[in-house]
Amino acid sequence: MDIYEKINETARIIQSYISEHTPEFAIILGSGLSRLENEVEVISEIKYSNIPNFPKSTVSGHKGKLIYGKIEGRYVLMMAGRAHYYEGYSMQEVTFPIRIFKQLGINRLIVSNASGGVNPNFEIGDVMIIRDHINMFPEHPLRGKNLDQFGTRFPDMSKPYSSAMITELENIAKENNIKVQKGVYVGLQGPSFETPAEYGMVRILGGDAVGMSTVPEVIVARHQNMEVCALSVITDLGGPEIAPNVSHEEVLNAANKAMPNVILLVKNLIKRYR
Ligand code: HPA
Repeated sequence: MDIYEKINETARIIQSYISEHTPEFAIILGSGLSRLENEVEVISEIKYSNIPNFPKSTVSGHKGKLIYGKIEGRYVLMMAGRAHYYEGYSMQEVTFPIRIFKQLGINRLIVSNASGGVNPNFEIGDVMIIRDHINMFPEHPLRGKNLDQFGTRFPDMSKPYSSAMITELENIAKENNIKVQKGVYVGLQGPSFETPAEYGMVRILGGDAVGMSTVPEVIVARHQNMEVCALSVITDLGGPEIAPNVSHEEVLNAANKAMPNVILLVKNLIKRYR
């Protein structure tokens, strides 16, 4: 099967679950947003294991199902759990769900993740609106034959994150007294956390936070001209003079603490954004 046939096969199956109304937003629930799942009025759910061609997340704290439903009266399709490059998936597999979103007619994407902060003004538990990213993954998600039906060979990346969505998120934060940071997310392959020197490198490169996801998904979403915004929960801090002893559990704990704020931001964005 070629890639278009795979996309068609998978989209056709998901389409039968979401026939009530085309979702207005696709949402990827990373470690910083997993409990948004509890806020959705569920219409249907599909396990990744029942979706042909879909990657299956293997990381604890990450589930594996698509949830279709309503938040604030608006239709959404949520990925509870995502595939990461470090799990061994190819970039095509990691970003396959993003192709499906477009094929289903969804034009907006909200992404969330947990990351390590390298900006000295950041604190653990801060929520960062990603305003730009630096792609440091060893493989580009658009490498290989271009999918001309989705986008051009050399896609523009001058506006990766929607300034209108960012403004709306900042307004919501201000109105609700939620502190938000805004910054650049650097995507590295992982799965080891960074050494002190690597945190230092991320800072020198122009990054405010570093993580192991999001960048491939956003690149593919922009290739096909989806409108994108992304939120990152700062779960630990690193730098050349700080040697954090990070563990997956600590990341999840810090993400859980910040999650109510992330949920408030995302719910209000869905409610208000036209
Ligand atoms: N690096 C450092 N800290 C983190 C990460 C990461 O990739 N993810 C969450 N906290």
